[in-house]
This record gives sequence, structure tokens and C-alpha cells, in this order.
Amino acid sequence: ATDMGSDLQQVLITEEQIGQRLDEMAAQIDADYAGRDPLLVGVLKGAVYVMADLSRRLHMSAPMDWMAVSSYGSGTKSSGVVRILKDLDTDVTDRHILIVEDVIDSGLTLSWLVGNLSSRGAASVEIATLLRKPDAAKVEVDVKYVGFDIPTEFVVGYGLDYAERYRNLPFIGTLRPEVYGG
Ligand code: PRP
Ligand code: MN
Ligand code: MG
Repeated sequence: ATDMGSDLQQVLITEEQIGQRLDEMAAQIDADYAGRDPLLVGVLKGAVYVMADLSRRLHMSAPMDWMAVSSYGSGTKSSGVVRILKDLDTDVTDRHILIVEDVIDSGLTLSWLVGNLSSRGAASVEIATLLRKPDAAKVEVDVKYVGFDIPTEFVVGYGLDYAERYRNLPFIGTLRPEVYGG
């Protein structure tokens, strides 16, 4: 197997920092949702690690479901038009939904998803994301729980991929330019 270590440039957020921040986010979510268990909705595939580590910190039953979405056409997400590749198994009518994401970049995916879930009659729709890139925002998204605001830089790890690779790094980091060079 290839050694991922040599592809790395810099660690931006350590595994320990992620864990500490998830502790704080979970405590806030526990407090905010006292008396009503939200449905956690993870966005495949990037949110898998955040979902696993955040949900295990919650003191609630935390039912979870998953969606997979993709921008229409090929490549660019700039249209903001999103296609559902895998829909929820759950009827969300009158449910409190907490969307779990790894990163908000342009905001187009989340903006569309919030509208979509709201239109199904959800009682409330909130977002928890580990990372947000404020300078990359193309649309404003109201995000209740943010782990870290980071610069507009290509990062991988903890669910975030480059060409489907590096999701399994336990921290957030950058890749050496040669890796993209091919
Ligand atoms: C990434 C990321 C978010 C989305 C954020 O997912 O995980 O879901 O893009 O971008 P936006 O704010 O500009 O919409 P991606 O489409 O790469 O799929 P993946 O989670 O399977 O990697
Ligand atoms: Mn994603
Ligand atoms: Mg991706």
C-alpha cells in the first residue's frame, strides 16, 4: 500500500483538537435539544467521520439517516442545483432535523438541502458542521454548530477527500502540491 504520510504538507487541525471541539459541540446540542431527540442526517460521504464521533458524544438516542447528493451535470457546483443520489429512509414530517456535515464550502449543497428538508414538513432543520470556509461562501447558510472556520484552502482528512482518497486521515491537513500535479 502507498504511504499517505509523504503526501502531506501540513496538519491544520489535530485529532485531539477535533475531539475537544466535538465535545463542546455535543454538549451544546445536548442542551439545545433537551426533551426532543433530533433525527441526525448525514451527507455522504464526507460526513461519515463527524457523524460517528459527534453522535457518540450525545446523551440522546440519536436516530440517524443518510443522504447522498450530487450537483447536476458534471463537475461544477456553481449552479446550486443538486440531485439526490440516495434519499432518506425516514419520513421527516414534524421531525427535528440536525444535518451533519464535514465542511461548508460555497454553501450551495447545504442551502439546497435545508430547503429540501424544510419543504417536506420538518419541524426544524439545523446544521452541525466540523469545518466552514467563510471566504468561499456563495450563499449565506444559517449554521447553528460550527467546529472550525478555516481559510479557503484545499484540505483533506476526517472525511474530506481528494479524488476519494485521504478521507481516513484522523486529522485535517493539506497535501503537497505534487500530489495534485499527478
Ligand atoms: C463536499 C463536502 C460537502 C460539500 C460542501 O462533498 O463534503 O458535502 O462538498 O461543498 P459546498 O458548500 O460548496 O456545497 P462532495 O460533493 O465532495 O462529496 P463527498 O462528501 O462524497 O466528498
Ligand atoms: Mn460531502
Ligand atoms: Mg468530496
